[in-house]
Amino acid sequence: MNHLQVLAVASEMFPWVKTGGLADVVGALPGALTRERIRVRTLIPGYPAVLSAVPATRVVKIAGSLFGGEARLLCGRVGAVDLLALDAPHLFARPGGPYADQNGRDWPDNAIRFAALAKVGSDIAMGLLPGFAPDLVHAHDWQAGLTFAYLRFAARTGRPATVMTIHNLAFQGQFAAEIFPRLGLPDEAFAIEGIEYHGGISYLKAGLYYADRITTVSPGYAAEIRTPESGMGLDGVIRARGAHVTGILNGIDTRVWAPDTDPHLAATFDLARIGQRAADTTDLRSRFGLDQDMEAPLFGVVSRLTWQKGLDLLLEVLPTLLGAGAQLVVLGSGDAGLERGFRDAAASYPGRIGCIIGYDEAMSHRVQAGSDAILVPSRFEPCGLTQLCALRYGAVPVVARVGGLSDSVIDANPAALGAGVATGIQFGPVTAEMLRVAIERTVALRRQPAVWRRIQANGMRSDVSWRDPGRRYATLFRDLLAR
Ligand code: ADP
Ligand code: GLC
Repeated sequence: MNHLQVLAVASEMFPWVKTGGLADVVGALPGALTRERIRVRTLIPGYPAVLSAVPATRVVKIAGSLFGGEARLLCGRVGAVDLLALDAPHLFARPGGPYADQNGRDWPDNAIRFAALAKVGSDIAMGLLPGFAPDLVHAHDWQAGLTFAYLRFAARTGRPATVMTIHNLAFQGQFAAEIFPRLGLPDEAFAIEGIEYHGGISYLKAGLYYADRITTVSPGYAAEIRTPESGMGLDGVIRARGAHVTGILNGIDTRVWAPDTDPHLAATFDLARIGQRAADTTDLRSRFGLDQDMEAPLFGVVSRLTWQKGLDLLLEVLPTLLGAGAQLVVLGSGDAGLERGFRDAAASYPGRIGCIIGYDEAMSHRVQAGSDAILVPSRFEPCGLTQLCALRYGAVPVVARVGGLSDSVIDANPAALGAGVATGIQFGPVTAEMLRVAIERTVALRRQPAVWRRIQANGMRSDVSWRDPGRRYATLFRDLLAR
């Protein structure tokens, strides 16, 4: 079998630019696909952090002006990753985040920035880079969604196969219709059978409409988004694509998330040396200013602080958590109200609740290694990665029964405990009351050391790597190409 050539298009990639799990997936999937004899090159915007990382082994100038400025592609290999960085200073050479400035305000020209990414993606698909003729283009989320609209009108036949992956339907890339003339697409693209959406434009819808196949990041979420309750206005588009929409559960990079070698930890451990974890718990307590109360079950949170993640519910049930003698550490950033809520809670209960507002990769590893349980009370969750990290690190995930969370954690109900397969705690519906019950259940299980150890061990033994998902993507790609 020959190697398949894939062009991935995305706006984030770990470790260079990350606002969430999208980056982790875009960073890890190429390695998983290499094992399946698929070679991926990834096109990402040339943000400052990306440009300083790519050794530009090869530079390809883009002819003419790309939406009002000069641009070039820097092609290089970093470790095992083939990067194509779109160096367009007028669009991407800015401080702040990938989508917003330092004050959190969206860049006013995001429509143009990600149209440019998509246009160049389509050009590469059609042969812009000599020697690279992709068999398939894989676009991630709305930022890459327009790629397939450009590709559709660049070539009606003889184009590569196309797969669109939805990481989160809550972000759709919606813009006013006025932007349309600037995109350089033919008038016929502005239609219900195209990129039009309620009188405006949706980049995600464009991807969903024009892609040959659609995937999302768990089977559970693939089912949920067909319904009006969870489809965020796109359920009709998704239902119309019928069996061409499937769910493949994410993995995590088990070289990055490896408790036996993790350089961020006070003590490394594995299942056979799980006792060493106690040192990580002590370290975590001291880093978050908590009492060294060995009897207290220690809950951890690593999350964006947004409505999606349901952490307002956690604020509501803090009295229950504290009343049960537990402690809490929260690492996160996001909505000002939630940040304030957790800061205030830490100030009100010193020694029992600790909070670090901010984004800290190393600390996220320490929370996973030191917590007894990781709370993920999301209102919806396409996949979720922190519960997978928790499984690997012997922290018991306590999750809402939604999307990828319910697909990746086996609830410690009597049947699962009896069969010896439980890996965590699930609760639903996602309300403060049910979260309260879940916390009480967790504390009760924590007080039974043998049962708890079994749940931890099951989690640590479960395969959260990219091996199986990599195979599933490979099968999907090959089946599509064989059509
Ligand atoms: P989402 O992409 O919706 O934010 P995921 O669970 O898929 O949720 O991915 C979140 C990723 O971001 C994980 O790798 C998690 O460890 C990381 N993360 C989230 N918040 C923080 C933070 N404050 N500091 C460090 N890492 C974080
Ligand atoms: C999104 C989702 C999250 C998922 C991640 C990676 O950010 O919110 O659930 O794990 O993408 O696919």
